Amino acid sequence: MSNYNEPNKTGRFGQFGGMYVSETLMPLLIELDQAYSKIKKDKNFQKELKDLFNNYVGRPSPLFHAANISKYLNGPKVYFKRDELNHTGAHKINNCLGQILLAKKMGKTRIIAETGAGQHGVATATVCALFGLECHIYMGSKDIIRQKPNVFRMKLLGANIIPVESGSKSLKDAMNEALRDWIKNVRDTFYIIGSTAGPHPYPKMVRDFQSIIGIEARAQILVQEKKLPDFLIACVGGGSNAMGLFYPFLNDKKVSIIGVEAAGKGAKTNETAATMTSGTPGILHGSYSYVLQDSDGQIKEAHSISAGLDYPGVGPEHSHLKKSQRAKYFGITDKEALKAFQLCSKLEGIIPALEPSHALAYLFKAFKNKHKNKVVILNLCGRGDKDLFTAAKELGFDTDE
Ligand SMILES: Cc1ncc(COP(=O)(O)O)c(C=O)c1O
Repeated sequence: MSNYNEPNKTGRFGQFGGMYVSETLMPLLIELDQAYSKIKKDKNFQKELKDLFNNYVGRPSPLFHAANISKYLNGPKVYFKRDELNHTGAHKINNCLGQILLAKKMGKTRIIAETGAGQHGVATATVCALFGLECHIYMGSKDIIRQKPNVFRMKLLGANIIPVESGSKSLKDAMNEALRDWIKNVRDTFYIIGSTAGPHPYPKMVRDFQSIIGIEARAQILVQEKKLPDFLIACVGGGSNAMGLFYPFLNDKKVSIIGVEAAGKGAKTNETAATMTSGTPGILHGSYSYVLQDSDGQIKEAHSISAGLDYPGVGPEHSHLKKSQRAKYFGITDKEALKAFQLCSKLEGIIPALEPSHALAYLFKAFKNKHKNKVVILNLCGRGDKDLFTAAKELGFDTDE
């Protein structure tokens, strides 16, 4: 496993990360950090998680040679890491299973979570159903409208959805409310954060649970290509699917690492979610990292067509990878993502979620007629079912026909 980027004791990756929280939350985070450090080494915990990954999620997810896209590009040989085939349709379940096992071992009985695209909410509601725990999901009212299928899924799974009306009514505001809930219900509640964001130990813990993606991809490419890939590409919201893929390759200096953010209507406009391309370092949700902020340090509202990338912050490890130049980050607009969403569907028979459509759009843009004889692994971290209504509306397709 990579040792490139272990955070220090207070959870800092280089200058980024930390625990910027109220005094009430501090003991909870320390308790969580200690419990996680102990449990992750426990053989029974590892065995239980592996069994769930294999038999509940359907891991390992395949590494698929996207031959049609490779041919279309006339460039590199492209592989998809197919985490969209996981139970519940995205990578989020990997992390939720790890955290719910931890919650059980810590004796917590009430689970809370925030969600944007609804994928993390669905994954949390799913693991709560599996383990019989009470589940409350905070979700911005704007996201409740644009991610309708996932809202119904969460309800079927027995979760209580709490609509959030503050701010931009999306992921950032949902996370604010979830943190408030945690402060009020310290004793019995476990907060399952859905990305590599938030205060220490979440960025490290979520990355560790998601790194199964990169561990598998590394082993699979060595069998299929007999060498490591030249490029890794993944979309970045809070950063969990990307860190999951990148982490096991961080010490392989010849592997180029590319994170793709949502630039919304353009990275230079006010309607963007491209935190690292357009933002500056600041504090959000207990962590020091790149954020979108105004000159008074007020967090700006983000915008992206994809609810899962519509977040004005990013996980601190990504900020460190950017600053240390181990990874590069680029922005892709809503329009470019929508085009890639259609192109991937037509060329490969795979309808991707709007989030990885950003990674695909970057691939189409930057690799056409370039990088021949190179190998790319792109993280196809979610399937498009949840986005059908949004895409149909944007593309002027009448779903009542
Ligand atoms: C399919 C999918 N991909 C990506 C993301 C972005 O999250 P992260 O950057 O943590 O992978 C989300 C968030 O909801 C998602 O649902």
